Amino acid sequence: MAIERTLSIIKPDGVEKNVIGKIIERFESNGLRPIALRMVHLSRREAEGFYAVHRERGFFNDLVEFMTRGPVVLMALEGENAVLRNREIMGATDPAKADAGTLRKDFASNIEENTVHGSDSVENAGIEINYFFGDVQVFGRG
Ligand code: CMP
Repeated sequence: MAIERTLSIIKPDGVEKNVIGKIIERFESNGLRPIALRMVHLSRREAEGFYAVHRERGFFNDLVEFMTRGPVVLMALEGENAVLRNREIMGATDPAKADAGTLRKDFASNIEENTVHGSDSVENAGIEINYFFGDVQVFGRG
């Protein structure tokens, strides 16, 4: 199996619910190692840039509003099949459809306030990690 990297964001609702530690514990106990980590209050420009692929979607403005309402935790995670593994740990985008034991089932309120973001492909993971972390801020552990 391949060692991959993926970007994870604990969104403002996750920070507000005080579950940062619980979320990181899920990653660590499922073989995903944080290799970069930072708390930041995203600017509108940063959030719009990050979600640029969704610019034409009806939910775009609400999404940017939500992602900038409070601090988030940005993380790069590393591990075997990290992109898919992270998506399994998160559960479906809509928490109403998420499996038991997933982060979104346990912590998310609705499809917008869904607690965590995870890259959807290895290619996008590279782009997303680079968007928030330069090479010198990533501490790969193989
Ligand atoms: P995320 O994985 O961060 O990527 C895009 C985000 O848009 C998604 O999680 C949701 O939080 C948000 N979103 C809001 N409404 C929708 C929707 N109808 N379909 C998909 N994503 C949505």
